[in-house]
Amino acid sequence: MHKTALLFFMLCFIFSDGALADTEADVNAGKTTYDEICSSCHGRKAHGQKRLNAPSLAGQQAWYVVRQLKNFKSGIRGNHENDTFGRQMRPMAMLLKDEQAVIDVAAFIASLKPRKPRKQTDDLTKGKTIYATCAGCHGSKAEGNESMNAPALKGLQKWYLVTQLENFKSGIRGSHDEDIYGQQMQSMMTVLADDASINNVASYITSLAAN
Ligand code: HEC
Ligand code: HEC
Repeated sequence: MHKTALLFFMLCFIFSDGALADTEADVNAGKTTYDEICSSCHGRKAHGQKRLNAPSLAGQQAWYVVRQLKNFKSGIRGNHENDTFGRQMRPMAMLLKDEQAVIDVAAFIASLKPRKPRKQTDDLTKGKTIYATCAGCHGSKAEGNESMNAPALKGLQKWYLVTQLENFKSGIRGSHDEDIYGQQMQSMMTVLADDASINNVASYITSLAAN
């Protein structure tokens, strides 16, 4: 690549990355937005509410929350005709008026303590074996890995993990042409051949230490 062009791309990268840095985010403004718009479904501490199908968000990595909110806004996520719950979240993301509002609320969410791990009654050995495949992207403690574009899974409720995995499998999530990261995850679903594997791996993830 031409040197000037390369420099240009590097600068773009540095600045686009900088825009997401915590220093630029106003966590207090994010908290105000969260309390006003998001808490009614995701809960005051962002630990989620099953009866509203709203997942736990607390402690999720900020870059992932930003990406999902933008994807909901643009229809990359939550626009499939059978995506009942994604379609409930989409109009909420649209209430975030600009990029700054998205960055602020994501920083607030990332600052919260994740849910504690839950004891599981299932046999976790099978889930653990399957999770070895997932760990390469999501991290051995399901803490997430930005360099692999993979979110934290720790702290997510079992029912939400199961729904999302089924959605990836059936194409309700990750089928949009521009959803490159959703497509990556969708291709991983070959590892989870049946409902039992989905259930086992979800149980194992839910049991992982929250920190
Ligand atoms: C009307 C209820 C409702 C409100 C209000 C709401 N959400 Fe949601 N949200 C949902 C549901 C339901 C889902 C699950 C969508 C799915 O199953 O794919 C969700 C999913 C999400 C996700 C994806 C989580 C993940 O792990 O991928 C994020 C991020 C999110 N919401 C953030 C927010 C923020 C920020 C606000 C406030 C601006 C908000 N939500 C307000 C119902 C709501
Ligand atoms: C090649 C890397 C990679 C591997 C391996 C991988 N994932 Fe993912 N996963 C991703 C990416 C990237 C996303 C984010 C998709 C998006 O942005 O919508 C994701 C998203 C998810 C989500 C949605 C999280 C949320 O908050 O909504 C779940 C659940 C998930 N992965 C579970 C798994 C499980 C279980 C395995 C192992 C069977 C696995 N992943 C293996 C890359 C991977």
